Amino acid sequence: MSSNLERQANAEPVSAAPSHVPNHVAFIMDGNGRWASSRGLPRTEGHRQGLEALRKIIRHAALRGVGIVTIYSFSTENWSRPEPEVRFLMGLLRRFVQRDLSELHRENIRIRIIGERDNLDAGILKLLLDAEELTRNNTGMELVVAFNYGARQELTAAVKKLCEKVARGEIEPSAISESHISAELDTVGLPDPDLIVRTSGELRLSNFLLWQAAYTEFYFSDLMWPDFDEAALDQALECFGNRDRRYGGVTAQAL
Ligand code: FPP
Repeated sequence: MSSNLERQANAEPVSAAPSHVPNHVAFIMDGNGRWASSRGLPRTEGHRQGLEALRKIIRHAALRGVGIVTIYSFSTENWSRPEPEVRFLMGLLRRFVQRDLSELHRENIRIRIIGERDNLDAGILKLLLDAEELTRNNTGMELVVAFNYGARQELTAAVKKLCEKVARGEIEPSAISESHISAELDTVGLPDPDLIVRTSGELRLSNFLLWQAAYTEFYFSDLMWPDFDEAALDQALECFGNRDRRYGGVTAQAL
């Protein structure tokens, strides 16, 4: 049976820069645990290597001209993992922000955090808010960190806020449009992702950007996230460049 990669890509290795680069690429960084287990290492080592892969991918995406990178760093469902692993992931995020923030800032990268902020450790929340504040006026690539994020929770919160507006008489139910819903989401103002990349061979969205991904292209890689490198990103970008995005319409040639 052919792999996901073989099935979907025109899977030649890519050496040159991809021709048509998506503006917004989102990553589901899956497979850290399996990467580690297959080497007889603790799962936490997989996350540590996952962070190294992330660092490379951020720089390479910026180099390729990607405008926005969104990363699914911790989902609302990830709290159900063993407590030491959750603590490790929190520590990793803390280290990422503390260690990389000044460099990201120097590279003109703007950081934005999406996800539920209630019930977050106060120290982590402050770190995230400070990172947003420090980089607010940067004009380079935007790095959106989905942390404690779940799309259903995001949509539920949006529905509540709209209901409150209705209850206060600020909007008529019949006047509610798609843009009103988008405006209540954490991603307000962000263009929808053009491409979502998921590693590790899993073919799921896992409660990630459900509303925003209505017309997103998907790319599934069989690589475990710690192995996802610059060449793998180029291959994903190249594959995107060959897609025919019709948004429910028909191509000009078909008319
Ligand atoms: C999924 O792999 C990965 C995560 C739940 C966490 C992603 C985190 C990183 C890539 C580390 C760097 C990120 C920050 C900023 C904290 P998995 O553990 O589900 O792997 P498995 O499916 O093989 O078990």
